[in-house]
Amino acid sequence: MNKKTVRDVAVRDKRVLVRVDFNVPLKEGAVADDTRIRAALPTLNYLLEHGAALILCSHLGRPKGKAVPELTMDPVAARLADLLKRPVIKLDDCVGPEVEQAAQKMRPGDVILLENTRFHPEEKANDPDFARRMASLAELYVNDAFGAAHRAHASTVGVAQYLPTVGGFLMEKELEFLGKAVEEPEHPYIAILGGAKISDKIGVIESLLGQCDRLLIGGGMANTFFKAMGFDVGDSLIEEDALPTAQSLLKSAGSQLVLPVDVVIADAFDNEADTRVVAPNEVIAGWRILDIGPKTIPTFKSALTGARTIVWNGPLGVFEMPNFARGTFALAETLADLNAVTIIGGGDSAAAVHQAGLVDRMSHVSTGGGASLEFLEGKTLPGVAVLEDK
Ligand code: 3PG
Repeated sequence: MNKKTVRDVAVRDKRVLVRVDFNVPLKEGAVADDTRIRAALPTLNYLLEHGAALILCSHLGRPKGKAVPELTMDPVAARLADLLKRPVIKLDDCVGPEVEQAAQKMRPGDVILLENTRFHPEEKANDPDFARRMASLAELYVNDAFGAAHRAHASTVGVAQYLPTVGGFLMEKELEFLGKAVEEPEHPYIAILGGAKISDKIGVIESLLGQCDRLLIGGGMANTFFKAMGFDVGDSLIEEDALPTAQSLLKSAGSQLVLPVDVVIADAFDNEADTRVVAPNEVIAGWRILDIGPKTIPTFKSALTGARTIVWNGPLGVFEMPNFARGTFALAETLADLNAVTIIGGGDSAAAVHQAGLVDRMSHVSTGGGASLEFLEGKTLPGVAVLEDK
């Protein structure tokens, strides 16, 4: 990438403010999935090995500008200390005199984790004074939070006004893989999109249609396409507002767009519901589509055969319920077996690949949900734009 990274600057004896994306799922007050914490370790270990002192900051959840005890970074600090195998000093705020004093006392090798940046409304407002106060803690700013790079907040963008700014290794890796898919994908290039809504993904659908050879659609968003084709989809989730868009995409994309040929329907939104496999135009009144069907799995598989680049974002069914997870897991297995560059956009599809134990068999599983979508859409991410050019 043409942006500076930690390799391009001196870090020895410096206090380094590192923005990480430690927005991780919690369960009963502990970190339920530490993928994002592990993903930051190469940068953190490099900085520590090169004699820096680390002041880490992140948001956690959406506390709406107030201190919410359930969203404290305490559990994250505990997990991070285990992974780094060294003490992590967790502070109770991310700005203020106590934080400043603690930062002043730091020695190389020390690690501080600041409290949730979103406990202050100034974070999301990208308030310059708040950003200046956070920046004043350090001598260098490293942004390794690819997952939050689509947010122009004080800790992702604002602080860069006041400090030399470079990327971390996670940021670099994400930009390398996703950048390659956007800029110079090897063809055949196949994209797969799932998830509930078309409206969240119109931009990415349009930009992918301009680049890829085929776009496979599954998940809830396929329902809106079926409805736009005039099918009665029963009680399936659809987006009325997106129907005209779906219609025009069907027209302009033609055979580039591949939809499921059969679907699993259920008489309730429940893992134990009664189910049937039907064609998409045969959904029973009062029933809903919850997964792609068994004939669609080989159809998608053959559409993927020979692909050189594959990007997947969004599950193909309600994979949280085992009875509607077959399509999503079958796709993950198909991708794992292909000799292609396989890039998994973060969020639910990344979670499915983790659950399937197939992370190591993909080329890249992004830590960014919204960020990877916006990147694939061709948008400039504000947290990337602030990194200094090489
Ligand atoms: C994510 O989980 O996608 C990032 O951490 C961003 O979180 P946000 O959508 O709450 O800004």
